Amino acid sequence: MAKTKTLFFCQNCGHESPKWMGRCPACQQWNTFVEEVVVKSPRQGGSADLTKPLLLQEIDSAGQYRIITPDEELNRVLGGGIVPGSMVLIGGEPGIGKSTLLLQLALRFNGVKILYVSGEESGRQIKMRAERLPGKTSANIHVFTETQTQSVLKVSRELAPALVIIDSIQTLYSDLLDSAPGSIAQVRQCTAELMRFAKETATPVLLIGHITKDGSLAGPKVLEHMVDTVLQFEGDQHLAYRILRTTKNRFGSTAELGIYEMRSTGLREVSNPSEILISQKDGPVSGTTIAATLEGNRPLLIEVQSLVSPASYGTPQRSSTGVDHKRLNMLLAVLEKRCGYRMGQHDVFVNLAGGLKMEDPALDLSLCVSLVSSLEELPVPEKYCFAAEIGLGGELRAVNRIEQRIAEAARLGFEKMYVSRFSLRPESLTEGTLQVKSFGKLTEVFRDLFG
Ligand code: TYD
Ligand code: MG
Repeated sequence: MAKTKTLFFCQNCGHESPKWMGRCPACQQWNTFVEEVVVKSPRQGGSADLTKPLLLQEIDSAGQYRIITPDEELNRVLGGGIVPGSMVLIGGEPGIGKSTLLLQLALRFNGVKILYVSGEESGRQIKMRAERLPGKTSANIHVFTETQTQSVLKVSRELAPALVIIDSIQTLYSDLLDSAPGSIAQVRQCTAELMRFAKETATPVLLIGHITKDGSLAGPKVLEHMVDTVLQFEGDQHLAYRILRTTKNRFGSTAELGIYEMRSTGLREVSNPSEILISQKDGPVSGTTIAATLEGNRPLLIEVQSLVSPASYGTPQRSSTGVDHKRLNMLLAVLEKRCGYRMGQHDVFVNLAGGLKMEDPALDLSLCVSLVSSLEELPVPEKYCFAAEIGLGGELRAVNRIEQRIAEAARLGFEKMYVSRFSLRPESLTEGTLQVKSFGKLTEVFRDLFG
């Protein structure tokens, strides 16, 4: 086979060179040269087979149905199922459970023909893992341990599976390039070849991608641009909960979240997360409150814990897990300045249950109450929850979709919920056994709670 011509291009300015160089002579940047395949002859055919622009009304959308997977959480983050011909990238740290997630998905697809390409594990290893997982009754999975993209594509075309899973994109290499597998050039080339296959045959392709130390997907950013959907699988290695988050989705919202629990028998979908994010304990503990948050479209009641104790060694410490550090500092300043609590001389530790990270501003009120509760050693009753953003003036601000948060709190049997006066018109309302109270200022909340 004649070798395809490759050239090196600077990723910064586009300068082209027949060999690799450390520094670009044009833009003087270091380490920007990447190997690329050059197509020599332009495609035959001329202008006759050029596609014409179509009126939007004329375009047939009937093909955009979705493949509903057996995994509810995955359907949710994908925006309702897999779109045929789409390419989904699942990124995550080593050992987080990416292979488990996709193998389990394949096993649960009863009877559907699936091609599982693995460049990381041997067939036997995959078999051993599969035996531990549930749902293998009538699985129709073809395991292919191969790392050459061309043969993967050849097999894919012959087998015509309903779904192709690639574990992982970094182990694949294309014959057209000399670069090593996992290099930027290879990752990009292999993705492009798989992409063409996916679009031509309308077969969805799920790719597993490794993550680098700094938390970004290994390989060029262009990989994320190429695929249709990017999912991030994250969680603490030592905790059982895993979160599947959408960071890009051409076919749905990016606000959705899937939650799993890693067990000895694989990943279990957690369809009612509020119940696990609130720890079981005997009686109320100071510094612990419940926030009524929203992740995507899903209301989530989550436990916020604070520990405020006198700083005995010089500079007070500020430490937070799961909540933004800057936000915590701001709230501490508001408590100090607007409410008169002396936080300056105390160490402050804040933690969100379940290893979750949250950015919902509705956490603010719950955080403030938990800080004061710990400082003053005044426990908050267990059946109380909070949802409001705090402004720099110590005022309670409205948060979005308050009805949904109230409904979830009521469903879980909470007794009182504190919200902003601007979220809710009537000052107080009851929903089932839940009493919703609204306030304008942080100080009013503290007076109501702690007297
Ligand atoms: P894996 O899917 O291999 O991670 P990745 O592909 O993201 O690198 O999952 C690895 C971890 O999952 C491993 O440390 C053991 C754990 N695990 C379980 O706890 N239960 C199981 O049933 C399986 C298959 C794995
Ligand atoms: Mg793996």
